[in-house]
Amino acid sequence: MPTEFISVTFPNASTELVPIPNASIDPDYLTRYARSLDDYEFNYTLVPYGSSSYDPFTIGATIAAVTKNLKVIIALRPNTLPPTVAAKALATLDQLSRGRAVVHFIAGGSDAEQAKEGDFLNKEERYGRLEEYIKILRRAWESADPFDWDGKYYQFKQFSNQVRPVNGTIPVSVGGSSDEAYRIGGSLADIFGLWGEPLKETKEQIDRIYAEAKKAGRADNDRPRIWVTFRPIVAETEELAWAKAHRTLDALQGGKPANGVTKTPTDTPQPQNVGSQRLLEIASRGEVHDRALWYPTVTATNARGASTALVGSPQTIVDSILDYVDLGAELISIRGYDNLNDAIDYGRYVLPKVREALKDRESH
Ligand SMILES: Cc1cc2nc3c(=O)[nH]c(=O)nc-3n(C[C@H](O)[C@H](O)[C@H](O)COP(=O)(O)O)c2cc1C
Repeated sequence: MPTEFISVTFPNASTELVPIPNASIDPDYLTRYARSLDDYEFNYTLVPYGSSSYDPFTIGATIAAVTKNLKVIIALRPNTLPPTVAAKALATLDQLSRGRAVVHFIAGGSDAEQAKEGDFLNKEERYGRLEEYIKILRRAWESADPFDWDGKYYQFKQFSNQVRPVNGTIPVSVGGSSDEAYRIGGSLADIFGLWGEPLKETKEQIDRIYAEAKKAGRADNDRPRIWVTFRPIVAETEELAWAKAHRTLDALQGGKPANGVTKTPTDTPQPQNVGSQRLLEIASRGEVHDRALWYPTVTATNARGASTALVGSPQTIVDSILDYVDLGAELISIRGYDNLNDAIDYGRYVLPKVREALKDRESH
């Protein structure tokens, strides 16, 4: 399988660095962003989910309507939609997009966030529910024959899905870094999503996922494809890139502190999800890991979502990405801090170079 690139969808020009308070969807911006990803040959865009945020399905359908090749990854929390409805909604998007729908499952990393939409299961139960949910979706996509389900979390009789996915099924991704995530993702997912950790720690996580796949009886050629996530800060030279990185950090911290001492959100509670806890622990061990993996952006945001930066010239970013390809990562998620401009920069200076380097290797 080739190395593929993922971005994240933004519905308007608001960014972490320059937020536009209460911004609504800007359809022109959304179209321009999606078309830029398509033109610069990103393979996927993730449409994220948050309890107070936009509906990913309608955003996803809009993206599909204005692009040709870009695949749309819908982030989905099982608590938000019955599995029979989700199976049809995803297959509907798949038909509309001519086979470009992908689903990324989120078991739910925070009790408080889950409670906002009435979900009071504990984390172990949330992963148990996810396991059942994935099995129902796969069964619903497999054939239109009616079937019953009598599980712990879902029961129904004679459900028949007449909305068939274009390619027979829809790729299923799972993200997380807890034992439960490894188990469910390793046994059931086509893709496993990870945040940006150093090479050693990433390798450890990949080994855990593959071990779970093996335990579930999956062959080596049927293991989940690995997705890793970075926030590259790229400029013409190393020096310029590091200056930009420090400007980015200052902005994330809400302005440069007068005494020059880096602020850390010490009064912010520790995040509940293991993925964020791991990022913060790695951040406490040093600012730069491996070639150019930079962690102060993790600390500054209390590891809120994907937050690990890669800093350097295009060549350094390309070489860093290739390090992860060598570890076995096939899907590389890159998004910056100046969302649209960074996506275009990556499309111009990073994606073609990674692809060229991989092609070169193949011909040698
Ligand atoms: C690549 C990737 C993308 C994610 N996207 C979302 C998202 O859009 N919304 C969300 O609530 N959680 C998202 N998550 C969080 C997790 O899927 C998951 O709920 C959480 O990390 C589980 O916690 P764990 O690490 O303790 O298993 C994402 C995680 C990864 C690795």
